[in-house]
Amino acid sequence: MSKYSIVIAGGGSTFTPGIVLMLLENLDRFPIRQVKFYDNDAERQEIVAKACGIALRERAPDIAFSYTTDIREAFTDVDFCMAHIRVGKYAMREKDEKIPLKYGVVGQETCGPGGIAYGMRSIGGILEILDAMERHSPGAWMLNYSNPAAIVAEATRLLRPASRILNICDMPIDLMEKMASIAGLGSRKELTVRYYGLNHFGWWTDVRDARGSDLLPVIREHMAKHGFAQAPSATAQHVEKSWGDTFAKARDVYALDPETIPNTYLKYYLYPDYVVEHSDPNHTRANEVMEHRERNVFSACRAIIERGTAEGGGLEADVHASYIVDLATAIAENTRERMLLIVPNGGAIENFDPEAMVEIPCILGSNGYEKISMGRIPRFQKGLMEQQVAVEKLTVEAWIEGSYQKLWQALTLSKLVPSARVAKLILDDLIEANRDYWPKLS
Ligand code: NAD
Ligand code: G6P
Ligand code: MN
Repeated sequence: MSKYSIVIAGGGSTFTPGIVLMLLENLDRFPIRQVKFYDNDAERQEIVAKACGIALRERAPDIAFSYTTDIREAFTDVDFCMAHIRVGKYAMREKDEKIPLKYGVVGQETCGPGGIAYGMRSIGGILEILDAMERHSPGAWMLNYSNPAAIVAEATRLLRPASRILNICDMPIDLMEKMASIAGLGSRKELTVRYYGLNHFGWWTDVRDARGSDLLPVIREHMAKHGFAQAPSATAQHVEKSWGDTFAKARDVYALDPETIPNTYLKYYLYPDYVVEHSDPNHTRANEVMEHRERNVFSACRAIIERGTAEGGGLEADVHASYIVDLATAIAENTRERMLLIVPNGGAIENFDPEAMVEIPCILGSNGYEKISMGRIPRFQKGLMEQQVAVEKLTVEAWIEGSYQKLWQALTLSKLVPSARVAKLILDDLIEANRDYWPKLS
């Protein structure tokens, strides 16, 4: 087996330690010779890097480790980039969430105006690292889970069609862990599913165990009573009360179409009034994350640096992150694993825009992915998806053309925004807040 060289882009991310420890636990199936971190915030990255460097030295001293803010150095001699950057960091996420709420509109990281604003920041950041990877390590793969994945994926489809970037999301991973536990199975790995939609906007139509037995009846029964609540999964993510509410609300989302099992993110599109009523405009998810995950990860890292050892706890492998290792291993070792990816439709959903980026099952191997056909989809889902995909495409076009008009159209078309008037009010505030990050619009 070859040994691989990896760069983690967004080295200072709260998810970096979990991924590094997960990589360490999987060296037998995905052997590594080098790990590099890349970030454009040297100070933030250094704390995570010093702690992870200690863990790596203790557990796998043969792996070369370095961290840098020099993009050329970071992307030279790598086989894979695992990308989880957050352009504008939590300070901007907080604005994405609070500005729409000021106008009574859902304030969410990846949905509605907040997701559009985040997309307008992310596109440039992703293109920069993708170009650096292709220049300095031609042939390398980028496994991207930087958000908003739908908009990032549409931008790279349009602007870098030949690039080796695979866009992926972990929400279905956690929900499939939950479905496995509802069905009395040990892991999502025992499930074979059919699923279609957009990122953070999809439905399962078939869930089977390894012997091909249909698990939907038991999952449906659970969804009708509890949504995704009372269905434990091993992940350390998605554990706070606000996530608990989202899992419970999936019951009402499920009620719209009891034939399918919905992604939890549909809550924002189907029950926006409920979401706004249950939001605190002065304390949003960004605040929760800063108070919990960010604080915990950085204080654990600082403690490791102070002690000079990662033994005795602090950081944990993120079980959740195993899907990244699955994806990398599939390409590196041609495992032919079936995974959900965000890919150009091209007829995989027969009666849907061939040029839309859709989330569907694919077979992963050393040549990349092969899509599995999902056939025709019903009118309800198709109508919702057409509206949302237009929002995503208009956002990308607005970024490319610097078009105020198109971005106003994108916000107006979002199912979360009640009128063009409100869309304009939100847009003008977002422009002001994003001055350092968005292209100039006219
Ligand atoms: P974070 O703010 O802790 O980390 C992001 C890091 O990216 C920061 O250290 C920041 O300095 C760095 N960064 C920002 N812009 C950059 C640029 N242009 N170049 C290089 N580095 C840059 O955020 P987090 O909460 O750990 O999340 C990281 C990312 O992962 C986010 O985009 C988040 O939405 C995404 N995420 C996606 C999924 C998924 O399902 N696809 C799951 C979890 C997290
Ligand atoms: C899920 C989604 C991610 C999103 C995350 C937000 O995992 O799939 O795309 O970034 O939730 O979680 P947070 O804890 O940051 O609110
Ligand atoms: Mn996601």
